[in-house]
Amino acid sequence: MGIELKDIKKSFGTPPTQVIRGISLNIELGEFVSFVGRSGCGKSTLLYIMSTLDEPTSGQVMIDGKEVTTLEQSELHLFRNLQMGFVFQFHHLLPELSAIENILMPAMKAKRSGERRPYAISLMEEFGLKDRLDHLPSQLSGGEQQRVAIARALVMEPKYLFADEPTGNLDSANGNGVMSLFKRVNKERRMSVIFVTHDTEFSKMATRRIEMSDGLLVS
Ligand SMILES: Nc1ncnc2c1ncn2[C@@H]1O[C@H](COP(=O)(O)OP(=O)(O)OP(=O)(O)O)[C@@H](O)[C@H]1O
Ligand SMILES: [Mg+2]
Repeated sequence: MGIELKDIKKSFGTPPTQVIRGISLNIELGEFVSFVGRSGCGKSTLLYIMSTLDEPTSGQVMIDGKEVTTLEQSELHLFRNLQMGFVFQFHHLLPELSAIENILMPAMKAKRSGERRPYAISLMEEFGLKDRLDHLPSQLSGGEQQRVAIARALVMEPKYLFADEPTGNLDSANGNGVMSLFKRVNKERRMSVIFVTHDTEFSKMATRRIEMSDGLLVS
């Protein structure tokens, strides 16, 4: 169980530039891991690869003992929708849907929006958004949009949560709120939380802090 990366390499462009230069790493189920390192060192790229949203140029990604490339597309989609939550560096809310509808999107896909709605609302309350349920993304501030995106990632209570700079647009009170919630779901529900951050204090809240430099792990 958990995520296993074996000698992951990733190149972009022609001629190819190697951005991830050979990373092997195990993350156990229920871990709380932060990734840090300077801009451009490959954090987002690695997070996309370990969360199955991008493929490595070489190397293997195993999730819960299965190599990702051997999964059928439909199996992978189901796994992503039910077992993984994603918070992107740029949040990608659907502009024509309200805040609550955006949060419930993964539940809609699984035909479970009725069942997940109370939890979605409790997340909005927790994030100080309870009077923003019906606002469109364009009617929300950047920080509010970010919290909606985080609530969307949490709404299915996935086994794995991947977050790329989840507190990047937030003031310290809201940033702390998000981090305490991550800590709580990790502890109480054994959700594996894997996040990238530039914030030294937040990175230390994780039980493991992984530093990257120039496409490699710093040991
Ligand atoms: N699709 C792409 N095509 C070409 N180059 C890319 C692509 N995606 C990322 N890169 C390059 O790969 C390197 C690593 O990018 P990545 O986004 O992983 O960095 P990062 O550590 O997340 O940085 P930041 O802290 O600024 O978010 C950068 O030099 C970037 O320009
Ligand atoms: Mg990044």
